Amino acid sequence: MKDPRGAVRIVEVGPRDGLQSIKDPVPTRVKVELIRRLRQTGLRTIELTSVVSPRAIPQLADCRDVLRMEDIKSLQREPNLRLPVLVPNIKGLDIALQYDVKEVAVFVSATEGFSKANINCTVTEGLERARNIAAKAIDCGLAVRGYVSCIFSDPFDGSTAPSAVLDCVRALQEMGCYEISLGDTLGVGCPDKVRSLLAYLEGNHISLDLLAGHFHDTYGQAVANAWEAYNCGLRVFDSSISGLGGCPYAPGAKGNVATEDLAYMFHNAGIDTGLDMLKLVETGLWISERLSRENASRAGIALANTYGLVSLPRHTEHMPSNPAPLWSPVKSKGNLLTYRAGSNFKIVLNRPKRGNTLTQNMIADLARIIENCSKDPSLSNIIITATGRFFCMGVNLGKSKPFVPQDAFSDLQVKPFTVILEKIHRSPKTTIVCLNGPAFGGGVDLAIACDVGIRIRSATLILSEARFKQGENAVSGLRGAFTRNTIFSTRSATAERLNSLGLMSEIVDDPRQLQDGLDNLLVRLNCSKSAKPRVSREFARLTREHVGREGQAATLDEIVFQITKPDVDRDDDMEVLHGGHSDDWKRALKRVWGPGRQRRTSMRGL
Ligand code: HMG
Ligand code: MG
Repeated sequence: MKDPRGAVRIVEVGPRDGLQSIKDPVPTRVKVELIRRLRQTGLRTIELTSVVSPRAIPQLADCRDVLRMEDIKSLQREPNLRLPVLVPNIKGLDIALQYDVKEVAVFVSATEGFSKANINCTVTEGLERARNIAAKAIDCGLAVRGYVSCIFSDPFDGSTAPSAVLDCVRALQEMGCYEISLGDTLGVGCPDKVRSLLAYLEGNHISLDLLAGHFHDTYGQAVANAWEAYNCGLRVFDSSISGLGGCPYAPGAKGNVATEDLAYMFHNAGIDTGLDMLKLVETGLWISERLSRENASRAGIALANTYGLVSLPRHTEHMPSNPAPLWSPVKSKGNLLTYRAGSNFKIVLNRPKRGNTLTQNMIADLARIIENCSKDPSLSNIIITATGRFFCMGVNLGKSKPFVPQDAFSDLQVKPFTVILEKIHRSPKTTIVCLNGPAFGGGVDLAIACDVGIRIRSATLILSEARFKQGENAVSGLRGAFTRNTIFSTRSATAERLNSLGLMSEIVDDPRQLQDGLDNLLVRLNCSKSAKPRVSREFARLTREHVGREGQAATLDEIVFQITKPDVDRDDDMEVLHGGHSDDWKRALKRVWGPGRQRRTSMRGL
């Protein structure tokens, strides 16, 4: 007979199940730091990652990087720790073996629909794959854990026959799994169903000591299910810190039961988990903040409030003090996607099949978004980039000729676009273009209107002569010398050329480096004192716009004074400056800083 209050073992699946369906890439170092923190809570089983097809689960495509990190290697050397890695096939096992993994987890579905969607094979084929993995893994001295998914229901086939679960459990047991986790993948179970399934399995000679409960929390029943399973005799439960989790092939399913919620429930029943409750809460707060995601643990939030833990220090000695931003989608559908990460706002042109040409609707939306971002005091940087092979091939002039050169611009089409360029130009935020591919016509304008540029080496800027003739109408704010050179020489500006002209701050070789380059740039920008980038930006603008004009030197003196004084941080100063159009810029400066202000720094002679 089971000890009525026997201890439980919690299997933390946050770094794998928890992260696998998050779309924005989570930096490897955040994953490793999460694992390190989880270990500090007392957890003795942590599923590290999965070695699966990167196309199936892009988020975990960095599994090798995780496994090769020194922190993870040293965890692998700790005795009495279980650190399974999920593998779907021999290829996954072979990769895991290269990194001294001591345990793998194999997974099958009790149902055909999910099996096909998740691992692209039938249940029988899935079991055969698992058998091959288990045989080789055991041969190599590894422990093997097993999962059976869809124990209650399948997203495509409906409810699951208990006999299908039994068949899988038996097969996994026969192939040598030391433990088999029963996955309520869709989170549709409730205590009554849990009790009857466990009774059925036990009645068919499956020892509950072999089983673990893996409850997703779609209907808020996961804690109740775990409690019911515990009272039936289960002693091992899978969970995710802060309730992270879900499977991209189980649409609508929510995260795993939160580790904090399970620990809270068991501790309050006098049942030992070996976990430090407050450290769990801290870790849950930390990762939720890192992922800009709501903490799904009710106990975690309540305890954080009780203990005043809500505003945790963000950084520890293990994290760089200014980690890369983590992007959360604001709008994830349509021709313009938007993301936010702290004080950074990213706009992504998303019409890749049409070269990201801007439709009139996109132009109107883009103008509105830039306007709103510019007014938002919580934002510092606006980033413009695009999906696909091109950055932006200009403005769409109609269905029949999406790539018509910009020479054909009519006033009607130009004006709304001009508004965007003006808004970028006048924005008090730092604007950054991330050129993922070539730009043409209006796309060039858009790129050059931004303050800072990072580009992939293959991204060229292509101008047309007619565009130059239109230059006088200041649609683009194109920088004169560059424009002339580009048009009258090669008509296509290479990355190196733009760089030498000071029009791009960085050139990278591939899309991943583009993302890293952007992250690094944002970290650098966000490190600088809040107003200084804005003052510097104004400095650049005035220099550009008033070359050789009377009074330029005096104005630059004034700006340098502002840049070098210790605490320029008044937004209203900058607003007045931005209000200053080309002809009254001197007046604007005087309004801000006063006519008789003594200069402390001089630009003359520099
Ligand atoms: P496939 O397309 O039939 O297989 O996918 P393939 O052999 O043709 O491979 C396709 C590509 O993936 C190839 O690359 C392979 O090299 C690569 P390409 O040549 O096209 O560039 N590939 C791999 N790369 C790295 N590691 C590997 C690997 N295998 C192939 N191990 C496959 C079949 C099983 C590979 C794929 O469907 C897959 O990876 N599925 C995994 C999906 C997954 O991870 N789902 C979530 C985990 S399960 C879950 O969440 C449920 C659970 O939590 C319990 C519950 O809640 O119920 C456990
Ligand atoms: Mg799961």
